[in-house]
Order: sequence, then C-alpha cells, then structure tokens
Amino acid sequence: RAQDVDAGKLSFNKCRPCHQIGENARNLVGPELNGVIGRKAGSVEGFNYSEANKESGITWDEATFKEYIANPRAKVPGTKMAFAGIKNEKEVNNLLAYLKTFGPD
Ligand code: HEM
Repeated sequence: RAQDVDAGKLSFNKCRPCHQIGENARNLVGPELNGVIGRKAGSVEGFNYSEANKESGITWDEATFKEYIANPRAKVPGTKMAFAGIKNEKEVNNLLAYLKTFGPD
C-alpha cells in the first residue's frame, strides 16, 4: 500500500548513512540496494563484502530479509553490517514495501 511505502521510506533513513537506493545509487559503507529483494547475497559488483555474507548462500526474499533485518548478526554471523536491527514487524514490512519499489521488476 502507498502509505506503507511512505512509512518505509522514512524508516530507510536509518539505512541511508550506509546504503543508497534508486537512480544513480552507489556503494557506500554498504552495497547499493536496488533490486535487493530477489538478489543473491554478496552479489553487487565492486562491493567488498564479508566472507560471511558472500558464503551465506542466502537469496534475499521476504523471509530472509525479515530475519536479517531483525538481527543481522544472528542471521549472518560475522556480517560486517554494524546495525542492531529493527524489531518492529510493522516497520520491517513497511521497509520491505519501500525496497520492493526499486525492483527487481
Ligand atoms: C549489507 C539492508 C542498515 C552496512 C546489507 C544487506 C542488506 C542490508 C539487505 C545485504 C546486501 C547484499 O547481500 O547485497 C539494510 C537495511 C538497513 C541497513 C534495510 C536499515 C534498516 C545499515 C547500516 C549500515 C549498514 C546503518 C552501516 C552502519 C552494511 C554493510 C553491509 C550491509 C557494511 C555488507 C555486509 C557484509 O558484507 O557482511 N544491508 N542495511 N547497513 N549493510 Fe546494511
């Protein structure tokens, strides 16, 4: 829903110090997140991922994204994403709605 996307956009401010998304998004502290839902973990060209992320075998879908964002270090032990996580399920769902507006399709 449009209002979920708007709320998710606000929540994404928590990610912006490290991640860009949208037209001309570049890798920063973290990889750019265009098309991340549907993307294989560790697959952005030119981003220097942790071994833990690259070897996780994860494809980011709704389920794996929710687990990761709730507690990144629990889902991917050794990840270098220094972020405590978002515990509020509604907020995570809003973030997902926002991310999905940037692809994969
Ligand atoms: C990786 C999402 C906040 C730094 C990732 C990945 C996702 C993600 C989905 C995996 C990407 C991939 O495998 O290509 C988010 C979201 C955030 C957030 C939605 C906000 C709610 C942050 C913050 C930082 C950060 C605040 C920096 C303090 C990183 C880094 C990686 C990463 C360094 C690479 C992890 C590794 O290689 O182990 N993020 N992130 N992220 N993120 Fe975030």
